[in-house]
Amino acid sequence: MGDWKNEKHVPGIHVERKDGELVIKTIIGEEIEHPNTLEHHIAWIKVFFQPEGFKFPIEVGSFEFNAHGEEEVFTKPEVVATVKTDKKGTVYAMSYCNIHGLWENSEEV
Ligand SMILES: [Fe+2]
Repeated sequence: MGDWKNEKHVPGIHVERKDGELVIKTIIGEEIEHPNTLEHHIAWIKVFFQPEGFKFPIEVGSFEFNAHGEEEVFTKPEVVATVKTDKKGTVYAMSYCNIHGLWENSEEV
């Protein structure tokens, strides 16, 4: 698991399994807040799930964050994605900072 508690860019992944679903919450800057300004912000998060024994990660979703202070409105770089599956596997999350580039994390579920 990436060091999301000490590095503000690493996606924190929190997964809850209930009634045949995986509820995947991905948060950037959970412990150390990442700036959100027009000049410096998290632009997107992508979430993938790779079922155990399957060759490739499957893209669950892409999430864009587009409010960076217009009229004091800011999107928080966090998302919840729900997947219907009973399978075990690995959740991957990637985040993109417009200044510091691509970051990733994964979690066995
Ligand atoms: Fe950054």
